[in-house]
Amino acid sequence: MRGETAEILIRKMSFDDLPVVLQIDRMSFPLPWPERSYRYELTKNPASSLLVAEIDGIVPNEVIGFIGCWLIADEVHISTIAVHPYYRRQGVGEKLLLTVLGWAVDQGAQIATLEVRVSNHIAIDLYRKQGFIIEGKKTGYYRDNNEDAYQMILEGLPDWYLERFGGDR
Ligand SMILES: CC(C)(COP(=O)(O)OP(=O)(O)OC[C@H]1O[C@@H](n2cnc3c(N)ncnc32)[C@H](O)[C@@H]1OP(=O)(O)O)[C@@H](O)C(=O)NCCC(=O)NCCS
Repeated sequence: MRGETAEILIRKMSFDDLPVVLQIDRMSFPLPWPERSYRYELTKNPASSLLVAEIDGIVPNEVIGFIGCWLIADEVHISTIAVHPYYRRQGVGEKLLLTVLGWAVDQGAQIATLEVRVSNHIAIDLYRKQGFIIEGKKTGYYRDNNEDAYQMILEGLPDWYLERFGGDR
């Protein structure tokens, strides 16, 4: 189904998704989350939401990506996002991000924030495309290689959403 207009479904992550999520995580990040972090986020952190992207292709209901966020007061913080390498560059990451931002607007969020490696030009492009700007840098933020992180922010989330989508979701 790669490259075709297969339907991508975004839904809440469940424990059953964890084996695939962990696989995608390991393929995507030098410092993947351990399983216990996902379990903690799914059960113990009331501020946390985790979603997966699912495709009905050769493998039915295959999980091909995920996103996580923390909603605290009027701020939604993107905690993680990854798409299986085979399914990248087909709009899945953007769909995951827009789903979370739309949901956050409904919850009353005013700003969205995240951190990203300064070398991760692909992710920075994805965030810039949605209107995020770089507002700061955290020196030596990533402990595997001491790389700096950009802090990115999207302010005025409700207005941004209205401009981008009008009344539609
Ligand atoms: C970042 C990531 C989630 C993007 O997912 P994706 O499904 O491939 O992205 P999309 O197809 O939705 O692309 C949306 C936008 O992202 C940017 N982008 C995506 N892939 C890109 C690439 N290879 N080169 C440049 N820009 C790219 C573009 O702005 C693109 O918009 P466009 O297609 O109109 O040019 C994916 O590359 C990934 O899993 N990377 C590894 C994990 C990671 O780095 N996560 C971010 C942590 S902060």
